[in-house]
Amino acid sequence: MGVGPARHVMNVNVQVTPPKSIAANVARMTTISQPCIARPQPSGKGRGLADAAPRHASLTGLVRQRWSVRVGSATVLIRGAEPHDLAAVAEMHGRCSPQSLLNRYRAGGRRPAVAALENQLREPLSFVAATYGGTIVATAVASPDAEHGRDAAEIGLLVEDAWQGWHLGRELMSHIAGATLVCGYRELIGYPATSVVAVQRLMIDVGHTRVVVGPDGTHLHTYLAESAALGLGPVRERLAS
Ligand SMILES: CC(C)(COP(=O)(O)OP(=O)(O)OC[C@H]1O[C@@H](n2cnc3c(N)ncnc32)[C@H](O)[C@@H]1OP(=O)(O)O)[C@@H](O)C(=O)NCCC(=O)NCCS
Repeated sequence: MGVGPARHVMNVNVQVTPPKSIAANVARMTTISQPCIARPQPSGKGRGLADAAPRHASLTGLVRQRWSVRVGSATVLIRGAEPHDLAAVAEMHGRCSPQSLLNRYRAGGRRPAVAALENQLREPLSFVAATYGGTIVATAVASPDAEHGRDAAEIGLLVEDAWQGWHLGRELMSHIAGATLVCGYRELIGYPATSVVAVQRLMIDVGHTRVVVGPDGTHLHTYLAESAALGLGPVRERLAS
């Protein structure tokens, strides 16, 4: 069972970007209170490495390549998800609070069905973060967004409660942004329930973020900056070594 990183070590070695002041962050956000205009539904499954633009050809091999980060005193390995991760991912969901599950799935704080988890793991842009002991402590996925057109991907992040607040979410957001850009998406859409502020703070580092308040709740759009490609985990790992 995951117990989270040791709390007495305050240092997380991998920082995606230097910390910014809250004021600077807020200045980069836009909030609009109009629902989005419905666009045509995307067809087919999510984009993958075969959809990468020629200018990103040198990066495609890095999208699902594993890399590791220090989280407190623990080392966490992040890699592309595989169908055989299902049991460990389901166990991780069992350790998450209803609040976290609500924020990830907006389904009343319940866990998703096993079939839904299985589908998530089969998405081309699906990732897991695991301890060296094999315990999965976070998942991240980008999949086609049914509401916002074919260039938009819905992002789904879930960090197990005991591992939250240690920059694992930032690490995963940075990688997902890079991976989606490389695979031809231009926009990330996030649908947090009560974690809008936390998700905003993650998104503003990867592009221009706006908050949309609609009749069905609040969601966030981030138009990806071209520099987001450099946020791929293995790219940052190489740059730091
Ligand atoms: C949202 C979530 C992914 C963030 O992951 P994390 O590892 O806890 O976040 P990080 O440690 O990387 O911190 C990211 C930023 O969010 C902020 N943050 C984290 N939790 C917060 C909270 N409860 N309220 C406000 N800000 C918060 C942090 O301060 C940090 O910003 P800063 O570096 O500018 O100070 C994680 O908390 C989670 O899985 N929550 C439940 C599911 C969810 O909300 N998913 C999002 C749906 S897309």
